[in-house]
Amino acid sequence: MNTKQIRIMSTEDNPLGLKEVAEILNNGGIVGIPTETVYGLAANAYDESAVAKIFEAKGRPQDNPLIVHIADMNELEVVAAQIPESAKKLAAAFWPGPLTMVLKRTEKIPASVSAGLDTVAVRMPSNEVARAIIEVSGLPLAAPSANISGRPSPTTAQHVIDDLGGKIDAVVVSGDCSVGVESTVISLVDGKNRLLRPGGITHEQLESVIGPVEIDSSVLSSEISEKVSSPGMKYKHYSPKTRVIIIEADTDLFCDYVNQRNENCAAMCFSEEAEHINKKTVIYGQMSNDMSQARELFDALRVVDILDVDVVYAHSPKKSGVGLAVYNRLLRAAAFEVIKL
Ligand code: TXA
Ligand code: MG
Repeated sequence: MNTKQIRIMSTEDNPLGLKEVAEILNNGGIVGIPTETVYGLAANAYDESAVAKIFEAKGRPQDNPLIVHIADMNELEVVAAQIPESAKKLAAAFWPGPLTMVLKRTEKIPASVSAGLDTVAVRMPSNEVARAIIEVSGLPLAAPSANISGRPSPTTAQHVIDDLGGKIDAVVVSGDCSVGVESTVISLVDGKNRLLRPGGITHEQLESVIGPVEIDSSVLSSEISEKVSSPGMKYKHYSPKTRVIIIEADTDLFCDYVNQRNENCAAMCFSEEAEHINKKTVIYGQMSNDMSQARELFDALRVVDILDVDVVYAHSPKKSGVGLAVYNRLLRAAAFEVIKL
């Protein structure tokens, strides 16, 4: 299949391109689209055969449900059966933006979108091109990250082309993702508030709006709660082919440790540290700027595989704020291998 590249840098940039994307989606096609978090692979959420193409193109396990993207609060009632007060408060505070809420689903959402669960994950993205695509197509869009399953998520159009070129109908070529890690996922069903995946909206921000939010055990460990609450968390994720090991230490200890290794290795570190390391380095953000770490993480994990080293030592980010999301992704990229110094 020839994957068409459609350049849309802003909503004013290419109205004809927007119409073309909307047409492909209405005809059951699948399209890589930008969002503020990562690029998504979108299909009409009501069209089961289009949704099936997403699973096929990504090589995604059938039991891992998709997020439904909307552009208008009225659409929330169409896809979600129960909207608790907490959901209304969170939407008012953080939508449009990098927050996904898991709610009971309506019959309108095909079971395959939700992998047979009785819930649906819903998000209203803030990226203006994403919103325009949803509005012009007139559809809620089911969209997982636009990577091959298991690979680092795509934060540039080129990442999408590298992974899915030839397998999908089109890619919208737009800017790089401003957040850089996937949305925060919170479950609000059965009167419980549970953080399933940390992201650009922090645990602290959620609690400031709705009070206590439990952090699911899968966020910081390989442990999965018995009734798998976020099926996506159980899979190996974001993984370079190269072995990654997280080092929890301060800057001096981290640099000393890497410098003393007698093996073909590299360091994944913060920009301030690179000059103190005598091995190859891949920078992911600045030491005290978790937003920059999130923005650069997935690209760094792709670069790791072209370094031609046997192992990469990654300096651990802080586990608070957006750093919790960075750590959660890095932990999976490292297959939970952590050394505390
Ligand atoms: O930022 C994002 O959320 C991006 C962009 C494209 O919007 N999308 C994304 O989708 O990250 P994906 O499919 O890579 O991750 C969706 C996550 C998975 O961990 C999945 O298990 C979880 O959301 N999820 C989806 N529906 C769910 C549901 N009904 N209950 C619990 N978890 C759900
Ligand atoms: Mg994903």
